Amino acid sequence: MKLTLSVIKADVGSIGGHICPSKALVDTVKSYIRDHGRGLIIDHHIATIGDDVHILMTHTHGDLNSKVHELAWNAFFAGTETAKGQGLYGAGQDLLKNAFSGNVRGLGPACAEITCTERPNESFVLFAADKTEPGAYNLPLYLSFADPMHCAGFMLSPPMFKGFTFRIMDCDHVDGDRTIDLHAPEDLYGIATLLRDNSRYVVEGIYSRYNGEKAAAVSTSRLRLIAGKYTGKDDPVCLVRVQGNFPSVGEVTEPYAIAHYVAGTMRGSHNSVMMPVKTGSTMTYFDGPTQVCAQAFSVHDGRLTEAIDMFDHPVWDVVRNRASEKFIELRRQGFSGPAMLGIHELEYGGVVEKLKELDERFKVTKEDEGTRKSKAQKVKAEAGEDAD
Ligand code: F6R
Ligand code: MG
Ligand code: MG
Repeated sequence: MKLTLSVIKADVGSIGGHICPSKALVDTVKSYIRDHGRGLIIDHHIATIGDDVHILMTHTHGDLNSKVHELAWNAFFAGTETAKGQGLYGAGQDLLKNAFSGNVRGLGPACAEITCTERPNESFVLFAADKTEPGAYNLPLYLSFADPMHCAGFMLSPPMFKGFTFRIMDCDHVDGDRTIDLHAPEDLYGIATLLRDNSRYVVEGIYSRYNGEKAAAVSTSRLRLIAGKYTGKDDPVCLVRVQGNFPSVGEVTEPYAIAHYVAGTMRGSHNSVMMPVKTGSTMTYFDGPTQVCAQAFSVHDGRLTEAIDMFDHPVWDVVRNRASEKFIELRRQGFSGPAMLGIHELEYGGVVEKLKELDERFKVTKEDEGTRKSKAQKVKAEAGEDAD
């Protein structure tokens, strides 16, 4: 059967700041989907990471289906009402428009979708990250889908020998979707050249070159560009099909052991470390470190199994400890240099006002004409030229 996996996530309110949604909020979203999804979606799974709620839905209506997207939008809307009733912080934060139209793209919630022919043993992993941007998945996806140092399938599994096509989006382009298809392995250096810039170029999808099947999808929304002002980081979701002609589940989780540096955490304006955590984790230290959870599923005729929490295993404790050390170390230098993001990526407009105010207090001191001329003559004389 043709199956669509849709994951739509939003931050519509959280307890004590941007920590985690309340149980009542999550229950509202769950019961909305349960009560209104009948006849439209086949199955669903709802979970949280940090202050975000993600709704995974299976159905047969294809990508960007307006009814499916509206269902998620309305569920988040209902969750917002609960959030308001409880005085939660940032109630409705990611619902940037008042009314739903067409699909959730450009309206605030993040969305990743894959439509495929369901394999008899279809398996996939849902990643959800909090306090970071979509480009945070660039490195792990590159390593899983292009690097035999991390994915043994490129040497051992013939359907993978042809490699994968990376569809990369220029997220700074706002007038339509600007994308490029690059093919691993021959375009590896081009892929790396784009993917090193997490804030601008983001893997939108990955396709098998063996059969054209879509292997991965990432949400590519940039809230700052939609709203024109700070509304929170994009907190991206990602779907990855695994096994068979694709990397194995272990090959797609292994790169997260790097705990790589990404943008995010406090006020969306710092560099951080990507920490693999259990689903539903909260964060209480400098709104960080950035965290990512991973849930593995099998699916048959659109029916999901229970989720397996991929980072809930002792091996990830070691990674978490190292990630904590890396992040605390980075935080020791506060605002200085690479601890914070560059000016264009700072998520709060305040810095512009501050710089304007300081700009007026700068003084320019110029040398008088005589000193300037005698210096110039000295330089010319040293270069063996005639003095004026
Ligand atoms: C990061 C994030 C938080 C907030 C911070 C201040 O994405 O959401 O770091 O930026 O807690 O929040 P406000 O500005 O809402 O007081
Ligand atoms: Mg969040
Ligand atoms: Mg948030």
